[in-house]
Amino acid sequence: MNGGEIQIGMIGCGVVGQGVVDLLANHRETIHHRIGAPLAIKHIAVKNPRKTRNGISPSQLSNDPQKVLTDPDIDIVVEVMGGIDPARGFVQSAIQQHKHVVTANKALIAEHGHELVASAQEQDVDLMFEAAVCGGIPILRMIRENLASDEFESIRGIVNGTSNYILTQMESQGWDFDRALKDAQKRGYAEADPALDVNGGDANHKLTILSTLAYKTLVSTDQIPTEGIEDITLEDIELGHRMGYHIKLLACADRGASGALSLRVQPTMIPLNHPLAEVPGVLNAVQIQGAVTGPIFISGEGAGGAPTASSIVSDIIDTSRSLLRGKPRRVAPWSVDQEHLNAVRIQGLENHHSKYFLRMHVEDKPGILAQIAQALGHYEVSIEQLYQRENAQAGNITVIIITRACRERQLQSALVQIEKLEGMGDAPKRLPIEPSPE
Ligand code: NDP
Ligand code: HSE
Repeated sequence: MNGGEIQIGMIGCGVVGQGVVDLLANHRETIHHRIGAPLAIKHIAVKNPRKTRNGISPSQLSNDPQKVLTDPDIDIVVEVMGGIDPARGFVQSAIQQHKHVVTANKALIAEHGHELVASAQEQDVDLMFEAAVCGGIPILRMIRENLASDEFESIRGIVNGTSNYILTQMESQGWDFDRALKDAQKRGYAEADPALDVNGGDANHKLTILSTLAYKTLVSTDQIPTEGIEDITLEDIELGHRMGYHIKLLACADRGASGALSLRVQPTMIPLNHPLAEVPGVLNAVQIQGAVTGPIFISGEGAGGAPTASSIVSDIIDTSRSLLRGKPRRVAPWSVDQEHLNAVRIQGLENHHSKYFLRMHVEDKPGILAQIAQALGHYEVSIEQLYQRENAQAGNITVIIITRACRERQLQSALVQIEKLEGMGDAPKRLPIEPSPE
């Protein structure tokens, strides 16, 4: 601290970083009042310091992160450059210089959170990452602090704003996938590598962090079966709607009766009147089933500069209050200790128990539906509803089947057989249906 002022250094000043600069300027008095001391941004490292940026003087900018990391006056480093390397080294270096760190980098925390949390504990500094999950929704603080006494039976979340925006625009405007993605990028919702948004990788990072926090066990990204929305078509969306569902990219964690944890990120059919089905556009939402608190539902903007900046600045305020009291680490980032690193068994997707939505393109010939039903029946998958309609392409039909609840492995075995049937078009598509039965 320099003359009673808390000094901030930033690495990165793109969509999120500019949001932080704007919020610190626009709510300066409120923030000063809530902390009890003023904040100042001393230095910002970016890739291109010649780019003009709102509210930042050229003298505050450079392309040298070391100016942030080694400046003894800087108390808090805000990492908003993204990616794993070199961000990992910068965050580690800030911690080793006894600086508190606030980051929005979910990829970094999901992959290397444990080592960074351990370093922060050793150096007695704060490592805060509220902005890494669900943009402006204070979901991590809620799990870590407000619900600290509870245990979580399940967590269901729409945690990626870009994919929710794409699915909503496809359904409500009839846009194709590429147009919707380009628009999400223009609005600053997407990752620098938007593949992470659409292939489920970003939602996987967020579920890794959420479940590590909620279940006191170290979850790794490769323990979460992950599917994205790249193959979802306008036809899937329209047929889903006809059968009474919206498609959402859902991140799910369930604690079974045996104590095992089941985790997955998948495009999922959700009944139209379910609260998660009604979350549009860039909004995110999380539904938690607490053993004591019961159901909790929270929703808000999950991506974009301003909502994400709100979470970052709340972490800056929390850290500043600790700094002023001389007592950092008021709340540990997560409560996984070395003895309980892998305390909870995580079970594979093959055991997932759900109803399923199946979409098939098949030749319109006698007996094909009977063969599909026979393959499903062979693996004890019952049909709850069947719908068929003719395609524009003569002689072809689209078949939709809603199954009764079965295990993923039963369905997969039946699909292997169905794919080989004569007259079957492209590979059948299957989407789980939520809520899944007990
Ligand atoms: P941007 O791509 O908009 O910004 C990245 C910033 O980092 C730019 O200012 C860039 O400089 C700077 N940068 C890149 N490489 C370096 C480097 N080697 N040294 C110094 N600066 C560098 O990303 P976002 O703001 O969208 O995202 C930042 C982080 O926030 C990511 O971790 C992302 O996952 C996370 N996040 C993003 C959200 C969003 O809605 N966009 C929401 C929640 C989290 P320059 O400006 O010169 O190009
Ligand atoms: N690309 C991310 C999303 C940013 O769309 O949700 C917020 O984490």
